[in-house]
Amino acid sequence: MTEGKVERKVIVISGGANNIGKGVALKFLNNGWQVGIIDHDKRALDNFPQKESGNAFLYVGDVSDEYAVAEFYIELKERFGRLDAIVNNAAIGQFKNFLDLSVGEWKRAIDVNLTGYFLMARFGVPLMLENPGRGAIVNISSTRALMSEPGNEAYSASKAGILGLTHALANSLGPSVRVNAICPGWILHENEQVTEQDHKQHLTGRAGVVEDIANLIEFLIDDEKSGFITGQYFVVDGGMTKKMIYI
Ligand SMILES: NC(=O)c1ccc[n+]([C@@H]2O[C@H](COP(=O)([O-])OP(=O)(O)OC[C@H]3O[C@@H](n4cnc5c(N)ncnc54)[C@H](O)[C@@H]3O)[C@@H](O)[C@H]2O)c1
Repeated sequence: MTEGKVERKVIVISGGANNIGKGVALKFLNNGWQVGIIDHDKRALDNFPQKESGNAFLYVGDVSDEYAVAEFYIELKERFGRLDAIVNNAAIGQFKNFLDLSVGEWKRAIDVNLTGYFLMARFGVPLMLENPGRGAIVNISSTRALMSEPGNEAYSASKAGILGLTHALANSLGPSVRVNAICPGWILHENEQVTEQDHKQHLTGRAGVVEDIANLIEFLIDDEKSGFITGQYFVVDGGMTKKMIYI
């Protein structure tokens, strides 16, 4: 803390330009955090609601590009000087008939969804360890890490890989950095309309909203509330993975 100035905590969110990542970014900005976002969607970043607030650092880049990720953290450090939390969220869906899936498409899903998470941790953790010396990482996986539909191979494999990466990092980085994962089920996008039947199939009677994920992220990066939790994954899916379906 410099004299007369309270240093705000800093969180980084990959894929923070849209939907879940955007909702998480806005929650933390509204709670007084400084937020760094890396996302390749320039148009969405140009329209980001709190772009001019001074507490948001918006960087256009691809998380699978190690040079972009390294540059993002160099600029983040110049701007905010510290890093308290990383939310790995940027991902692409990859649903395609297995026998039509090209090697290039497979590799792209793994590059973005898994290598991207590795890169965000690899280049971000040194700053976290430097200032404030400890922190937390939350990796957004999916219930598709645990169960599948046909044509899910690349996405499911990448999301299951994230769970392995999570417990490996928890071992490598503890006790300074806690690392956990969230497996969301169906989380509604901005303005997404679904049927009553879509809602009612969930044991909770409704599909998920961004707040369901943002609230858990807030808990998992708060040392006072979750300081004894690391290496774990948490399923947030309205009970769908506990519902037996044979049709
Ligand atoms: N919405 C759901 O129902 C749901 C369910 C399970 C898991 N998830 C997971 O939650 C996370 C967010 O999902 P969402 O629904 O908000 O997705 P989304 O597609 O709306 O948002 C993903 C964001 O990541 C960015 N992105 C994609 N590839 C990138 C790259 N190579 N470099 C930088 N940015 C990139 C996109 O531009 C976008 O802003 C993802 O990891 C997704 O797999 C979502």
